[in-house]
Amino acid sequence: MKLFVEKDYEKLSKVAANIVKEEMSKKPNMVLGLATGSTPEGMYRELIRMHKEDGLDFSNVITFNLDEYVGIDVEHPNSYHYFMKNILFNHINIDLKNTYIPDGKANDLEKYCEEYDELIQEKGGIDLQILGIGENGHIAFNEPDDTLNVGTSVVDLTQSTIEANSRFFDSIDEVPKTAITMGIGTIMKAKKIILLANGKKKAKVIKELLREDKITTQLPASMLLLHPDVTVIIDEEAYQG
Ligand code: GLP
Repeated sequence: MKLFVEKDYEKLSKVAANIVKEEMSKKPNMVLGLATGSTPEGMYRELIRMHKEDGLDFSNVITFNLDEYVGIDVEHPNSYHYFMKNILFNHINIDLKNTYIPDGKANDLEKYCEEYDELIQEKGGIDLQILGIGENGHIAFNEPDDTLNVGTSVVDLTQSTIEANSRFFDSIDEVPKTAITMGIGTIMKAKKIILLANGKKKAKVIKELLREDKITTQLPASMLLLHPDVTVIIDEEAYQG
């Protein structure tokens, strides 16, 4: 696991965007795994700037998002579909047909999850996966538990995640209690992974991840210690030394 500690959020976002750009230059039709949440927003802003000012070309890029709330409409302002369009897709030249985000309203969710994993493999597998991290160590929506799912699945959100994500909703009661998420195995199959974290709120979990050198399902991000190509990019606030 490589670690980059950057001065601040802006620098972290630029470093992350540069890695995406580098991978895109090696493989213009790369399969890019995308994350939602506040953390990657700065990286997306930088990618939009690179597209507008330097002509970074997304026309052949294929994307797969990590997760989506169950039962939420794609047009709902709190859906990850809406988030991705608003924050990234509407501002770059990506073909929306090449963007995949789990459908939280699929009829047969179990079958849908299986097909999502199959589709990722059909497209050649994820070349670069972007990850944030929850304060409780979750990646995507893989929450701390006695066991973790290997493949894409429907999961219950923990109270701490519901509380953390309630900041995006009018009230905590509106936060969905379940979600579709890529499984730990789906994420681990990505050829390259970058995990981003910024701010004091993430310092505790980052310390656990970097110092413990132990794998536990109670800290889902610790599974990444087994991956051969993970870069953790954090700002000074998220780093306690
Ligand atoms: C959310 C998402 C994760 C994200 C994490 C951290 O619940 N499912 O993919 O990485 O929580 O979010 P944030 O970046 O807003 O701190």
